[in-house]
Amino acid sequence: MGIQNFNEETLTAEVLRRLEGTPNPRLKEVMESLVKHLHAFVREVRPTQAEWFTGIKFLAEVGHWCDDKRHEFILMSDTLGVSMLVDFINYGHEANCTESTVLGPFFVAGAPDLPLGASIARPGTPGDPCVVTGSVSAPDGTPIAGALLDVWEGDGDGFYDVQKDGGTNLRGRYRTDAEGKFWLTCVRPVSYPVPHDGPVGELLQATGRHPMRPGHLHTMITAEGYDTLVTHLFTKGDPYLDSDAVFGVKDSLIVNFARCESQEDAKSFAMQVPFYRGHYDFVLKPSRQQARDDATTTSRSAEPAPA
Ligand code: BEZ
Ligand code: FE
Repeated sequence: MGIQNFNEETLTAEVLRRLEGTPNPRLKEVMESLVKHLHAFVREVRPTQAEWFTGIKFLAEVGHWCDDKRHEFILMSDTLGVSMLVDFINYGHEANCTESTVLGPFFVAGAPDLPLGASIARPGTPGDPCVVTGSVSAPDGTPIAGALLDVWEGDGDGFYDVQKDGGTNLRGRYRTDAEGKFWLTCVRPVSYPVPHDGPVGELLQATGRHPMRPGHLHTMITAEGYDTLVTHLFTKGDPYLDSDAVFGVKDSLIVNFARCESQEDAKSFAMQVPFYRGHYDFVLKPSRQQARDDATTTSRSAEPAPA
């Protein structure tokens, strides 16, 4: 074994050489890319030893802030735009289909099943009562009956139930009716800060960024034969639409939650005036397997019938 006098240039090649035997090809690809980019970053930034150690201490601190209730690494990924980048790569955007956005850390599986129209807000919840109506359909307009619509949001003070004592609130699951329609009651979504009392909050502050997200209602829609859609409905006119701390806003997801004073409308939704109301028609993306099956059926049906 010879003496190995690596220098700034040759070291990277040697690290890559030692990864050559990685049996899992995907892991090999990921690790090679990570080493190349990490070395390029260090070459570009040329950190002092003290700066490099500050970086390491920061990452360790991010880890210390992670537990069942708080995942600071996800927050770091969100606030650096990486979560949205992964979302773009994986969900993409297909013409006519509703766009996706970040899941966020406040989703809780197993929310209560509610009848259409019911409110996800317990009586006394801070916020303006709001009715959301809409539908779920396929790209060709076919209604999707029985789609599962999981909905969650923060209250009118900007807090999710998991950030307060008091149990489940502001989350529920609905099923679309035979015409693919839904209607539900919630509170008008308002802006709130992402958790910023930890190292990620410190970094936001040190880089002159605010922690705010524009008001939004989270939705996750599942239906057989379609990709699960994780998205939000954003409040039109919110002052943070242009500077969401996690880069999740898409124009197509902005909804006018309009103030409604009509007694007649209030009566039809069993509400009291004034209340707010918004509408959104979701379009799900057929899952790849479903799309392949459909294409096969179409090409088969285009073939001449056997004589
Ligand atoms: C949220 O919308 O709930 C959220 C998303 C990303 C980071 C923090 C909060
Ligand atoms: Fe949220």
